[in-house]
Amino acid sequence: PTDLVGVHVTVSAGPTVEDLDPVRFLSNRSTGTMGFELARALAERGAEVTLITGPVHLNTPPGVRRMDVRSADDMACAMAQTWTTTDAVIMSAAVADYRPAVLANTKLKKSPGEMTLNLERTEDILATLGGRQDRDGKLLVGFAAETEQVVERAQDKLLRKGLDWIIANDVSGAQIGFGAGDNAGILIGRAGEMIRLERMAKAEFADTLIDHLSAALRGSP
Ligand code: CTP
Repeated sequence: PTDLVGVHVTVSAGPTVEDLDPVRFLSNRSTGTMGFELARALAERGAEVTLITGPVHLNTPPGVRRMDVRSADDMACAMAQTWTTTDAVIMSAAVADYRPAVLANTKLKKSPGEMTLNLERTEDILATLGGRQDRDGKLLVGFAAETEQVVERAQDKLLRKGLDWIIANDVSGAQIGFGAGDNAGILIGRAGEMIRLERMAKAEFADTLIDHLSAALRGSP
């Protein structure tokens, strides 16, 4: 189908990398696969797609505009740049919640005994977008990786961040989500919709998700 012609969707993908010194960083195991598959699925249906990605080893899907970033801060800046022209944002990136409070410009040297690393909060990109005055009906979709009380916590996140939809993943097993080939979850809508998505390969998961979100995406400004 070419049902998404004329709709601009911004997708985020991958991990963010928070530098500690010139050779060390904090990051996570996200591979970017879910976000890249979503970008592919959207572009195949005719959407104009901007893909903002942290460092990953994946090829850009055909027809997708890619912006490479490193840190949560970089991702927030790139998101702010595409905001005015985008109709919808799907945040599948595993954005770091904390970064080192001090970025050393020379390599940190070891010393005897323990070391304490001070961390500070990064910006919650989705929450910032959800609270923007100029949101104008733009559709916001997030992911919630949880290991317990999956639905309740995802619903809480949806409300707290002002989202329209959230995909709740149970990541307590190693078979789905982070770094795995498959995904499974529950798509939860602001109006109380609950759509169970059984375990499937991430490419198929992306296509199924866009099937369910297609009407909402077409209705975004
Ligand atoms: N997210 C974001 N900016 C951040 C952190 C997360 O936009 N600094 C987005 C993610 O891309 C994802 C959703 O928010 O769509 C996940 O929410 P979050 O509260 O970060 O989930 P957890 O990391 O699981 O958080 P918590 O520790 O609160 O459970």
